[in-house]
Amino acid sequence: EPRDIEGDLTEILIEEEQIRTRLAELCRLIETDYAGRDLLLVGVLKGAVMVMADLARELVHPITMDWMAVSSYGSGTQSSGVVRILKDLDTDLLGRNVLIVEDIIDSGLTLSWLLSNLKSRGPESVEICALLRKPDAARVDIDVKYLGFDIPNQFVVGYGLDFDERYRNLRSVGVLAPHIYS
Ligand code: PRP
Ligand code: MN
Ligand code: MG
Repeated sequence: EPRDIEGDLTEILIEEEQIRTRLAELCRLIETDYAGRDLLLVGVLKGAVMVMADLARELVHPITMDWMAVSSYGSGTQSSGVVRILKDLDTDLLGRNVLIVEDIIDSGLTLSWLLSNLKSRGPESVEICALLRKPDAARVDIDVKYLGFDIPNQFVVGYGLDFDERYRNLRSVGVLAPHIYS
């Protein structure tokens, strides 16, 4: 019998409806800020897939999308901040307005690296949109222009976020029960 994946959560932090409402608010800001300008959304695989899909469809603004895959910094829990490109963009960033779309800023190391990497490619602008941020886990300061929610430093899954590649398809964001990962 298939298991209900919501049953592996101890708590739902952000409901589907809250995500939808907040993303719509962010889209109105983005539309105003980029009025009359081109906009390239860059999603970071794989966690950003859900937020990219919903954000892009909520936007009433002509956009293009591209994707990058970067290595997480190994399997250890201690991150080195060294990131490797597994799949690069297909798009030339010269003169483009780039909005990086991420599911979560945890330590901030991935985005810190990505930001300077993309900025070195001659874009007109580079900004960040992230659904979630864990302020208590930050190891570097990241300037996020469009932020969904600050959340506590807990093991969260859902809406793109995984544990061992699972739970990405949960519609809400929740706290994973410790017995699942310990
Ligand atoms: C997760 C998440 C962010 C990053 C945030 O990706 O989707 O991209 O970690 O962590 P940081 O702020 O500490 O750098 P992950 O490397 O797990 O890959 P995934 O998106 O494929 O799950
Ligand atoms: Mn990711
Ligand atoms: Mg992951």
